[in-house]
Amino acid sequence: MREFARRVVRRLGRLLLGDPFWRLHAAIAREYLRGRGIEVGALHNPVPIPRGVRVSYVDRMSKPDLLTHYPDLPARRLVEVDIIDDGERLTTVADASQDFVIVNHFLEHTQDPIGALGTFFRVLRPGGVLYLSLPDKRYTFDASRPVTPLAHLWADHEHGPARSRRAHYEEFVAAAEGLTDPAAIRDRADHYLRHDYSIHFHVWTQAEMVGLLLAVRDRYGFDFELVRKHGHEVIFVLRKHGAEEMGRSRIAA
Ligand SMILES: C[S@@+](CC[C@H](N)C(=O)[O-])C[C@H]1O[C@@H](n2cnc3c(N)ncnc32)[C@H](O)[C@@H]1O
Repeated sequence: MREFARRVVRRLGRLLLGDPFWRLHAAIAREYLRGRGIEVGALHNPVPIPRGVRVSYVDRMSKPDLLTHYPDLPARRLVEVDIIDDGERLTTVADASQDFVIVNHFLEHTQDPIGALGTFFRVLRPGGVLYLSLPDKRYTFDASRPVTPLAHLWADHEHGPARSRRAHYEEFVAAAEGLTDPAAIRDRADHYLRHDYSIHFHVWTQAEMVGLLLAVRDRYGFDFELVRKHGHEVIFVLRKHGAEEMGRSRIAA
């Protein structure tokens, strides 16, 4: 009876105040998002956008194709995709054109995270904000996978990610689906490869996420505005250097 009452109170609270998980995202969005920007890979979990702020949704597929790719997701929960593009390259988005870029639970799906981060900062205007959240592997189905070393990310960036693609699929199926037989792992990986299934190519805990961002901070020119552990994820807000800071770093170089 007491448990029933607790459940009713929880549900009422959610109805009146919103989902607690999204309350923090909504508060961060209110503080940092201004103007107009894009969210890449929002799928069924778009960040709550404050009033007066405009967002376009980018994905690699149209909404009907996403529904085929993710048959368990109810259609009503998926955002309408405004721009079909590869979020790692954003070739249809002009340089310095966005006030913000949101990438939640997307960077781990990229094959070249260092290149993808470069893309996000390319399309941000000086002073624009990258709103990035990532799952911490310790709390997900990736728990048994080894952390992706920074050297691997640099190799994927410099030599192209194709060389490590199959190994990522095999590691993913073994961990996420608990397969142990090498032939079964190969078959399942083949299946995902054929369908170009979007997996977690690379995985991190909080420390290596910070390590990756520090490793590219000077290359892309940004400051940390916020780092927040939030349940199974870590949320980062990074601000691209303004014209003044960019001028200063050019002089220093
Ligand atoms: C795990 S979902 C993230 C959903 C949501 N942002 C969240 O926080 O739960 C990953 C999304 O990224 C999209 N995606 C994966 N690779 C992509 C790429 N190269 N370009 C654009 N979108 C991509 C997928 O189609 C999917 O919508």
